Amino acid sequence: MLPCLRPDLANLAVYHPPARDAGTDWLDGNESPWDWPPALKEKLVWLYRQDIQNNRYPDSTHAELKQELVQYLGEQLGANPENKLTGEWLTIGNGSDELIRSVLIATCLGQNAGILIAEPTFSMYKILARTLGIPVWDAGRNEQFEMHLSKANELIQQEPIRVVFVVHPNSPTGNGLTAQEREWLQQLPPKILVVIDEAYFEFSQDTLLPELLSRPNWVILRTFSKAFRLANLRIGYAIAHPEVITALENVRLPYNLSGFSLLAAQLALTQRRQLLSTIPEILTERERVMAELRKCPGIQLWPSQANFIFSRPTRLAPEQLYQQLYDLGTVVRHTGGGLRLTIGTPAENSRLIQRLRQCCGG
Ligand SMILES: Cc1ncc(COP(=O)(O)O)c(C=O)c1O
Repeated sequence: MLPCLRPDLANLAVYHPPARDAGTDWLDGNESPWDWPPALKEKLVWLYRQDIQNNRYPDSTHAELKQELVQYLGEQLGANPENKLTGEWLTIGNGSDELIRSVLIATCLGQNAGILIAEPTFSMYKILARTLGIPVWDAGRNEQFEMHLSKANELIQQEPIRVVFVVHPNSPTGNGLTAQEREWLQQLPPKILVVIDEAYFEFSQDTLLPELLSRPNWVILRTFSKAFRLANLRIGYAIAHPEVITALENVRLPYNLSGFSLLAAQLALTQRRQLLSTIPEILTERERVMAELRKCPGIQLWPSQANFIFSRPTRLAPEQLYQQLYDLGTVVRHTGGGLRLTIGTPAENSRLIQRLRQCCGG
């Protein structure tokens, strides 16, 4: 390895998603299986022609998108008299992946401090922390994928933990935070930042947003990559107390999002009824896949509140099943000691069921 490079990067376990080719069912990314309707794409292109000058930098303040988001989030807060959400409570990222990195930079980098996660969980917390030389401690989970809270408390007592990352509902396992886990998050001291990643909120419809308004050490992460069907354009956002937002804004790149992506996110919000109308079908399909796979004795499944299902084969190693499915034309995600199956189109789901039966019996 060249001596100018950081030696610890040589052994870094990273996430290299496979190249996407046609003719394969891509059920590995928890994306929506549905592209935007052609008329809406046309509208986006029309707006792009009208509003965007390629020679100019995009709006670095993201002010218009923040205004749309305040409205969208206001609906989730209902008639809450505590609602003080303004644009100052928001920052926009190049995907929520960028915001995870901003959180790490704003809290732990160069501070001899690290993060707590509970595996299996979203892999990027650990990957991004490692790229920054930030230590990661894992509290682990039980058979139902509830966090080991006593282990978490022990680690917090012993280690310089400055951020706790949880996902609600968790990826890859699909379970939401329990009452006990929520109480545990509530009692964490202000010296610990609590990041609640709600990437799948639009599927679960369960959010901790109302509570965040009175908790200055909480951050909620959201994304346009899943239910809004915009994974390609890389837009995520964080909601937090303005003091936290200022820190996240200070560490981000000034032009982190293209004007096209900003425009698409705004259009996604104004057209949300149309875009989110596919969610009921995805949830119905999730239950169909679950019911069909329950008939398969060679697969263990867990309930899910999101657009994916976590499974473990009982007679094969997960990597064997992954490879067999891959060879048959369905790509899923091998993670967390099992396979995470994204809900796709009805046809993709039917092929997944048939191929899993073929590999696992049943
Ligand atoms: C829990 C969780 N957080 C964040 C992300 C990343 O989202 P984005 O596409 O906005 O970077 C994902 C994507 O799979 C995810 O599952």
